[in-house]
Amino acid sequence: MEQDPKEPDTTGARERGNVTRGTLVRIIIIAGVAAVLGVVLALSINWFPVAASKQAGPIDTLWDVLLIFSVPIFVIVCTVVITSVVKFRMRPGEEDLDGPPIHGNTKLEVIWTTIPALLLLGLCTYSYLVLHDIEKAPASGREMRVAVTGQQFNWTFKYELGKRSFTSAQLYLPIHESVKFDIRSVDVLHDFWVPAFRMKIDAVPGIVTHYRVTPTRLGSYPVVCAELCGLGHAFMRNTAHVYPPDKFNAWVRKMQIAQGVISGGGGAGGGGGGNALAAGRAVFTGPGGCSACHTLADAKATGTVGPDLDKFLKPRNKAFIKTSIVDPNAYVEKGFPANTMPSNFGSTLSQSQIDAVVNYLYQVTR
Ligand code: CUA
Repeated sequence: MEQDPKEPDTTGARERGNVTRGTLVRIIIIAGVAAVLGVVLALSINWFPVAASKQAGPIDTLWDVLLIFSVPIFVIVCTVVITSVVKFRMRPGEEDLDGPPIHGNTKLEVIWTTIPALLLLGLCTYSYLVLHDIEKAPASGREMRVAVTGQQFNWTFKYELGKRSFTSAQLYLPIHESVKFDIRSVDVLHDFWVPAFRMKIDAVPGIVTHYRVTPTRLGSYPVVCAELCGLGHAFMRNTAHVYPPDKFNAWVRKMQIAQGVISGGGGAGGGGGGNALAAGRAVFTGPGGCSACHTLADAKATGTVGPDLDKFLKPRNKAFIKTSIVDPNAYVEKGFPANTMPSNFGSTLSQSQIDAVVNYLYQVTR
């Protein structure tokens, strides 16, 4: 370094300090090409799961429109920043130099304020119209209500059909019928979301939130919780089944009989189904004392010391359920310590009480 640091050669720096016409044209071309590529790439990505509701269409279109407007802005800003960093960076020997003096440019400021303002106004208006449209009540006025309750770490669904309601551990919906969800939480914040339906809202303790969905595709879709609610958040998953109307009605009838809401009628012993379940429920909530430690939607039990029976017993048969009651350490559910459940139910409950509660647990967790 022979050069005197106080008098560096500044001619090159001054020349580079000006944005030439060539640079500007290059930025515009690069940004234009990059913006087109960015939009093509963004639109070719399959962002969402299969669309299974009437609401999904307008939401997916809104998403695409937002991409078409926001990707070019992002790309243009990046191009200008990267060009500036490369072209106008400090070279060795320029450490003590000031850049060329810059004064405000009113015309430029008016342009870069007006364009984003108009864009935002337009996109907000469009978004509002889409929201208004997808939240509208059906013109027919006919709609089903389902009460959704979030609780660490499960969803339960209560159907208000006919005189008395019944509950289900999974969500069942008839296709092409508008459903209004009344969403509650009994403990902390959760968020009721069926990604295939797109709609999503928080379950907030103390208030009831709502949204509507009209399923338009048969099949089974995950129901998830979209609000961090504790250690079990990731496992707070259920399934939404969209059925044809006749299959849905058959399911409703089956649930109503199983929960004693209506009698089976016709078939021999059908009427007794409700009574047998009531007897089992009485053991569960009474002498069995099961409610204190287990969650079971049908018995309105919310204990969390032991496994959630709605969830864990669903795939089990009666023999497994009986063994789990009289010999609880024979199989201990993952994540729960052994010797937590009393092992003397085989002697404190009568044989008929055990049979009743086994049958009851089997029926209500299907
Ligand atoms: Cu409930 Cu996350």
